Amino acid sequence: MNKNEDSLVITFITGNQHKVKEAQGIFQKFDIELEHIDLGYPEIQGELADVSIFGGKDVARRLEKPIIVEDAGLFIRSLKWFPGTYSSYVQDTLGNSGILKLMDNVQDRYAEFRSVIGFATPKTEPKTFLGVVGGQIAHQEKGKHGFAYDPLFIPEGYDKTFGELTREEKNELSHRRRSLENFACWYKDL
Ligand code: IMP
Repeated sequence: MNKNEDSLVITFITGNQHKVKEAQGIFQKFDIELEHIDLGYPEIQGELADVSIFGGKDVARRLEKPIIVEDAGLFIRSLKWFPGTYSSYVQDTLGNSGILKLMDNVQDRYAEFRSVIGFATPKTEPKTFLGVVGGQIAHQEKGKHGFAYDPLFIPEGYDKTFGELTREEKNELSHRRRSLENFACWYKDL
């Protein structure tokens, strides 16, 4: 997987430019070079880890090289962890305003963003790396940074939403930071 003696490289398969930029910022600190390929892969309905494993295996075999994929979602406790693995569909249908309606008069606003990185190669069994950040669902959308649910989510210890934080600030504590960091620590030691 070494490009040369000094630099590690990994290929990230995603169609989401926000995720690419976040991952680049995070991998810089580990001296891992990120190659990005926008390639579709089958996304089964299931736990985040299962989605990453299934998709990762498919892509690694097709491209005949090691790759990472990522699957993430927002899990809201008072909604029985909805939208969870339906996050993408719910963002496109209900949107943030729909989530706020579901949360009208709801006291418990605890939520988690979860991210799972799936590392796969053409031959070996895939590995997954989890990252979680806890926080609260705001009472209204705030901020223009980031994407999707970012304007709704206030991470623990902050009084601003992800949408109000810069990419660098979000990268310090996000679920993706944590899953990518778990992966990067393991990958560097391979
Ligand atoms: P994906 O299938 O991994 O792309 O993630 C599912 C959905 O979760 C995305 O389409 C977004 O709606 C949401 N999501 C994942 N990560 C984030 C994030 O960092 N901020 C806001 N929404 C996110």
